[in-house]
Amino acid sequence: MRATRLIRNIGSLVTAASGGKAKSGRDMGDIGEHNNAAMLFDENVRWIGPTAEADRQLQSGELQPIEVIDAGGRTVLPGFVDSHTHIVFAGDRSDEFARRARGVSYTEIAKEGGGILRTMRAVRQSSAEQMAAAALPLAWSAVRHGSTTLEIKSGYGLDLQSELNQLRAVRMLQNELPIEIVPTFLGAHDFPPEYRENRDEYLRIVCEEMIPAVAAEGLAEYCDVFTDEGYYTTEQSERVFAAAAAHGLKARVHADEFVDVDGAAMAARTGCVSADHLLQISDAGAAAMREAGVVATLLPGTAYFLALPYAPARRLIDDNLIVALATDCNPGSCFSENMQLIINMACTQMKMSLEEALSAATINGAAALERAGKTGSLEVGKRADFTLGGVSSYKQMIYHFGVNHIDEVWAGGRRIAVNN
Ligand code: NIG
Ligand code: FE
Repeated sequence: MRATRLIRNIGSLVTAASGGKAKSGRDMGDIGEHNNAAMLFDENVRWIGPTAEADRQLQSGELQPIEVIDAGGRTVLPGFVDSHTHIVFAGDRSDEFARRARGVSYTEIAKEGGGILRTMRAVRQSSAEQMAAAALPLAWSAVRHGSTTLEIKSGYGLDLQSELNQLRAVRMLQNELPIEIVPTFLGAHDFPPEYRENRDEYLRIVCEEMIPAVAAEGLAEYCDVFTDEGYYTTEQSERVFAAAAAHGLKARVHADEFVDVDGAAMAARTGCVSADHLLQISDAGAAAMREAGVVATLLPGTAYFLALPYAPARRLIDDNLIVALATDCNPGSCFSENMQLIINMACTQMKMSLEEALSAATINGAAALERAGKTGSLEVGKRADFTLGGVSSYKQMIYHFGVNHIDEVWAGGRRIAVNN
């Protein structure tokens, strides 16, 4: 018999159950809350039901878990799936934030050589070990705020060796942390200064040198591109994705963040798993994504941090798209690894319901990483990735914002973090 644990007396257990699939449109509002619940698990969830039933089986001896945990009326949620981060980087850009607070724009700072290129210079001077060491506390902080799956991108090296180093740092984090970390190659994040006037040559290097090297070392599962005005055109993005596909890397994209460049339709055409940001997405782009089943990953922390208009979450959900939420945690445009805060912002700023925001941060985040059959909801047979929060319901957790409500984090059935 497997060694199981029982957690009983759960005031509010959110399953986000979906039969292992993404939730789109109206289904996002259904999060499967159980009150006075209990959950039996080993590395996977084995049973969910009423505490009264678990207690009866404990007494009769039918249930013999190796540990019984009394949740004391607290809340259990599926671990958050943060499907878009850039937490491996080097250097510090707090002074750029200070300038932006005085009214200088993100674009102006980027034009002066700040922004992505500033981080690029620091990354090029760092080793993989140094970047992993700097990212480790950030990754653990994400976990302590409730994330049990993290995607991490490269994209601050912008040359072969530095991109590989960033991805090697991601691999070191994979070996260090007891959660699933999904690596993405983002060599097409910007054009480095040495190829600013010869963009075609940089594209060639991305397609013919970087992608094959990343694939040969098995360093990434996905390939991402920043498709926007001043960055990569849709044609250039398609070239990158074709090279990625030829080397077994699947596509995801930063699309239509600053300007609608038809990135959403391109994402649908090229089979992207997810298109992210989408502040400026057009109706036609949204329709194309819905038809192709591309997840719309919204990053309200970025709109907040850059004081930009938010993505049209309501329109996308009402149009029946699959909407996910992620942090975009990075040193320039959104420096937060706290998914609880992102969920609150989705409710206050994008008018998502509390239930839609939770679905977006759990099961749909998992779908954005093609892992909806494995994590993102608490269902029999799926991984026991969950958090125990010190509030009596998920509503309290979202309502009382800017603080960390998570008491314990469990991944694959193991207690991996205890706060306080
Ligand atoms: O996802 N949008 C593109 N890139 C990052 C920002 C990078 C930076 O400023 O360092 C993002 O928001
Ligand atoms: Fe990003």
